[in-house]
Amino acid sequence: MVKFGVFGAGRIATTFSNAANGIHENLYAIASRDLEKAEKFAKDFKYEKAYGSYEALLEDPEVNCVYIATPHSFHYEQMKMCIEMGKNILCEKSFTLNSEQAKEIYKLAEQKKLFVMEAFWTRFLPTILEVQKLVEEDIIGDIFQIEANFGFSSEKKPSDRLFNPLLGGGALLDIGIYPITFANLFLGVPDSFDSNVFFHQSGVDTSEKITYFYPEAQAVLNVSFMEDLGTEATIYGTKGYIYFPNFHSAEVATVFNNSHKVIKVIEHKHIVNGMEYEIFETVKCIKKKLLESPIMTHEASIEILRQMDEIRKSWNFKYPQELG
Ligand SMILES: NC(=O)c1ccc[n+]([C@@H]2O[C@H](COP(=O)([O-])OP(=O)(O)OC[C@H]3O[C@@H](n4cnc5c(N)ncnc54)[C@H](OP(=O)(O)O)[C@@H]3O)[C@@H](O)[C@H]2O)c1
Repeated sequence: MVKFGVFGAGRIATTFSNAANGIHENLYAIASRDLEKAEKFAKDFKYEKAYGSYEALLEDPEVNCVYIATPHSFHYEQMKMCIEMGKNILCEKSFTLNSEQAKEIYKLAEQKKLFVMEAFWTRFLPTILEVQKLVEEDIIGDIFQIEANFGFSSEKKPSDRLFNPLLGGGALLDIGIYPITFANLFLGVPDSFDSNVFFHQSGVDTSEKITYFYPEAQAVLNVSFMEDLGTEATIYGTKGYIYFPNFHSAEVATVFNNSHKVIKVIEHKHIVNGMEYEIFETVKCIKKKLLESPIMTHEASIEILRQMDEIRKSWNFKYPQELG
């Protein structure tokens, strides 16, 4: 049985706990830096154990998979701690701050024969998986353009992790990863890119327009913490197009022909909130003793981070942890 231990009793840990409870997976232990907070969280979400430090949770031999639900800048060190203690890992996106850190983590985990997966929930959604299959079967012909937006208007509080460079803040790692992954899922790795970016006074990127160029296609990706751009995406092909009103948590996608006539609606409602599918995948892989998921491979995780490294390099933007 997979017994989950969770690092960080915050926002996404709440979503994860609701999903796990909804599908009756075993929420075993929660760890927070604050024991009282952990105890309350354990009570609210029916965890058996509450710990007042992440280290204490790792000492529990019953925990066999740690879900890391803390800000980006902590993932690398926390995953190293987990590997040291022989725990499998499901780590929130962005997996690490950069691709070098990710390569190191996957190598360490492989040496210790531990399962590690980036918790990129969109990749496991049945609607996304079905659209990928239909595109492979040529439902819209050759793709020549993708448009994907992810933007919301956020309060500019430098204390929030989104705006804090020390916590791995910034729109690219937090939400840009969604349209970037979407472009990779349907067009693969781009040959080159172009981008425009705006920065917050705290130093992190808050809005960017990224264009990915392929031999016979392009992907136009808009990302913002400042503007409500929504989360729509469209994939245009020579025979028609596919529209997602909300691609990052896709429950529905509609296929049109070139005369704008609906030819297929793909719809898979979430069982709980959509995070259940990455939990199913984690449990399945650990039970099968796999070291990586065939859906969210180590290589794919490293590749997306490499692309974000290149984009940040073009902006001359490094995280404090990457300096000196
Ligand atoms: N899949 C998705 O849809 C989705 C959505 C939102 C976020 N995320 C990802 O989930 C991760 C966490 O995001 P979140 O919004 O849940 O973050 P959050 O609520 O700001 O923080 C999560 C937890 O991390 C710990 N933490 C926060 N700030 C810290 C600090 N300064 N120093 C040390 N620990 C700190 C806290 O745990 P304790 O106080 O309990 O120790 C906090 O409860 C990120 O990687 C984010 O990208 C994913």
